[in-house]
Amino acid sequence: MANDRVKFLDTTLRDGEQSAGIGMTVEEKMEIAKQLEKLRVDIIEAGFPASSPGDFQAVSNIAREIREPVICALARAHPNDVDQAWEAIKGAESPRIHVFLSSSDIQVMHQLRKNREEVMEMAVTMVERAKKLCDDVEFSPMDATRTNPEYLFQMMEAVIRAGATTINIADTVGYAIPSDFANLLRRLQEEVSGMDKVTLSVHCHNDLGLAVSNSLAAIEAGARQVEGCINGIGERAGNASLEEIIMGLDTRKDLFGIDIGIDTTQLYPASRLVSRITGMAVQANKAVVGENAFRHASGIHQDGVLKDRSTYEVMQPERVGVPGSTLVLGKLSGRAGLQARLDALGYSLSRDEISNIFESFKVLADKKREVTDRDLEILMDEEKRVSTEPISYTLDQVHFSSGDHDIPTATVRLVGPNGEVNTDASTGNGPVDAVCKAIDRVIGCSCTLVDFSVQSVSEGLDSQGTVTIRVDNQGRTFSGRGASTDIIVASAKAYLSAVNRMLAADEESNVPAVGTTPD
Ligand code: KIV
Ligand code: ZN
Repeated sequence: MANDRVKFLDTTLRDGEQSAGIGMTVEEKMEIAKQLEKLRVDIIEAGFPASSPGDFQAVSNIAREIREPVICALARAHPNDVDQAWEAIKGAESPRIHVFLSSSDIQVMHQLRKNREEVMEMAVTMVERAKKLCDDVEFSPMDATRTNPEYLFQMMEAVIRAGATTINIADTVGYAIPSDFANLLRRLQEEVSGMDKVTLSVHCHNDLGLAVSNSLAAIEAGARQVEGCINGIGERAGNASLEEIIMGLDTRKDLFGIDIGIDTTQLYPASRLVSRITGMAVQANKAVVGENAFRHASGIHQDGVLKDRSTYEVMQPERVGVPGSTLVLGKLSGRAGLQARLDALGYSLSRDEISNIFESFKVLADKKREVTDRDLEILMDEEKRVSTEPISYTLDQVHFSSGDHDIPTATVRLVGPNGEVNTDASTGNGPVDAVCKAIDRVIGCSCTLVDFSVQSVSEGLDSQGTVTIRVDNQGRTFSGRGASTDIIVASAKAYLSAVNRMLAADEESNVPAVGTTPD
């Protein structure tokens, strides 16, 4: 029987990380997990421990440190996956193992190359195995919406008998249509014995742009757990956008009559953090958290909003944590103005921290007419990165030249681990390539750039650019970020940050530093 509280499982750190081109470090995942705790999501799916040592580490760190929400780890229906999931989360206050297995004929036959009976047996055995380790077990039939309903119902009955406490209906390929999906959920509740004793959950992908609509239709039809990602990131077209589902339920409580335990004012900070860390921009017209979500352009709308905001706004920006803007910060602004703005953005800083950030603020304000909230986020991010990241080399100077008739050339000056200053130069296919190669020459390493993205932080020609880079070194991938009003300088910072991470990893694993030859 459905109750009137919906739980939220956030899978930004697991399914979200499956977005093409995204790679988060263990520390970045922890930062997001802390924000998700502030947002008060019920369950954090922290990762897929069997997929890599890095994921295992991230999940176990989060399990040890984040105490309020349930910490969930994903596992395929393989004994090793289930055991590793448990190893990673066993230190959590409230651990959960999430087992998934394909259920549609398309995937059972063509991907698993098994028959329905064999798959049924795997599902039951692995749920039983998980249940012996952990009381809280979620089971997901993958591609449930393209699964023969009778087979799906039998499988759900069997895994509930085996001990599953949450049944998560996955619209893995974003095939569902709201009315049809709601029907399937009603049938599951009517036809699967034991369903009233467990939580019915949904997990929707956005291939047809319907992930949020399907999730809301499912809640209306009785689902009481919903899964999604901040900013709707995730595999292919992404997962259901958690902030949109939350604000749909919050804004239309008159219709749904459902409680949520979420602190909605943490949505915007969560969105900004995820965008910064992943390097995935949020489109300006994105619902709830987009740059334009609360901006009114037409005269008629502006007139209405000035008289009464509810004329053209169904929710208030403050409700989702968008800070109201009254002060313009620039080169004449003082410490108090900066501090007030940082407070409004949710940063609480000590006197020393304010002093440090004020220095960087002044440097930026000299280059920019107006320092926006986005600029401040980047400054804070850079400050944090510099104080927490492993740093062997720092960028002292970078100079480059390029043009349609010139060979792109760069010179960099780096300060090394013992304060030594080294300079070198290189040509390249373009200025970014030349800068990366010059850095390689100083450090004596060689990395391949596998991903490069630039995001403009704000509007205007004096805008800052944030560069997110991923590099490959002998099959290992490292990411780095850097920001500057000059995107080549930002690229140099991002590349150096990735290389510093690589050097720290080498040191940790006692692998000789790249560029040095073993005797
Ligand atoms: O989309 C999917 O099917 C999944 C499962 C692991 C739940 O992400
Ligand atoms: Zn998924």
